[in-house]
Amino acid sequence: MTDWIAPHGGTLIDRVLRGTERDAALEKAKSYKRVQLDNFALSDLELIGIGAFSPLTGFMGRGDYESVLDTMRLQSGRVWSLPITLPVSHEQAEAIRIGEQVALVGEDKVIYGVLEVTEKYSPDKEREAEKVYRTTDLQHPGVKKLYERPGVYLAGPVWVLNRKEPAEFKEFYLDPAETRALFREKGWRSVVGFQTRNPVHRAHEYIQKCALEIVDGLFLNPLVGETKSDDIPADVRMRSYQVLLKNYYPAERVILAVFPAAMRYAGPREAIFHAMVRKNYGCTHFIVGRDHAGVGSYYGTYDAQLIFREFTPEELGITPLFFEHSFYCTACGNMATPKTCPHDESKRLTLSGTKVREKLRNGEMLPPEFTRPEVARVLSEGLREKQEAVIG
Ligand code: ADX
Repeated sequence: MTDWIAPHGGTLIDRVLRGTERDAALEKAKSYKRVQLDNFALSDLELIGIGAFSPLTGFMGRGDYESVLDTMRLQSGRVWSLPITLPVSHEQAEAIRIGEQVALVGEDKVIYGVLEVTEKYSPDKEREAEKVYRTTDLQHPGVKKLYERPGVYLAGPVWVLNRKEPAEFKEFYLDPAETRALFREKGWRSVVGFQTRNPVHRAHEYIQKCALEIVDGLFLNPLVGETKSDDIPADVRMRSYQVLLKNYYPAERVILAVFPAAMRYAGPREAIFHAMVRKNYGCTHFIVGRDHAGVGSYYGTYDAQLIFREFTPEELGITPLFFEHSFYCTACGNMATPKTCPHDESKRLTLSGTKVREKLRNGEMLPPEFTRPEVARVLSEGLREKQEAVIG
């Protein structure tokens, strides 16, 4: 049986070397110059390798980079909204020749991959920030990260030789080839992907279940790569997802797997990127709610939905499902959105992310209409454990 949905660009990229081929490449790589990757680039390397970033086969050269900034497309014309780049220092770039192979190592000195350097170029960071994040404000976590990283981009095709062993939740690390096989096995003809960097509160649950009413399966795909320091840590979130699924979701219709990418907080552009990547994992539909991948008040509440209008359904190849800001309405006595609820703000229960984190850290329970009690318990225990660990 063929897959119901083609990967972005038509072919699922596989740049992970295995067996004797990998052993030989690793042996050779030991003599190459070493380029140390931060966790951000390391996760990009792996995601390129496993095909989550199909059709990318490496870090972007200047042509694709500029094209992505200006048109949200690769030079080939394929939709791609975020630059995927490998920043190194000027000194390091100077020591590397075009055409040379370099070993890509982690902070732990392990060789994770090799890069055949086809180009090195200096980005105009102000332009990149303006295009990708719509701001050059250093308070924006994505912009801050961009400016913190070194100033020259190395480009070229990569091969993955080693993969980071997850410290926890190993069974939830599934590659796109594996999730595609799982969806096929289950006979799901339509699957909705859900991106999140937060615990699943009732609002998220509501939009997921609304979506699940019209498709065969739900792919709950929390991002567990680098996030900003005040986001709830991924391990605590993972425990909260499990307790929620166990108690409130039909097991045969949901797959939980992590998305090991770094969060960019690029709002609208990241929504397009998230959708393309979930298409590679085999999703036919993708949920975009309020302020998707946003932070602070840099983006309009629905900018991440409006951006989809810039592309045709054919070139996206995955159907976005848009949801308005959802909440519990005390007058309706259920979850709703402004689309389905006639009551005013005073009846609507909403809490900001900051307020939620504050309550959890103080050991206060969240209202059950906002967060399932089982989930709230896991979150507040998890955060308290972390706090105690820090205080020590
Ligand atoms: S994100 O950075 O990963 O987008 P978050 O985990 O909060 O953040 O959101 C996951 C998804 O749920 C996004 O599509 C977001 O738009 C949506 N979402 C979050 N909260 C709400 C809400 N109250 N109503 C509607 N959609 C929401």
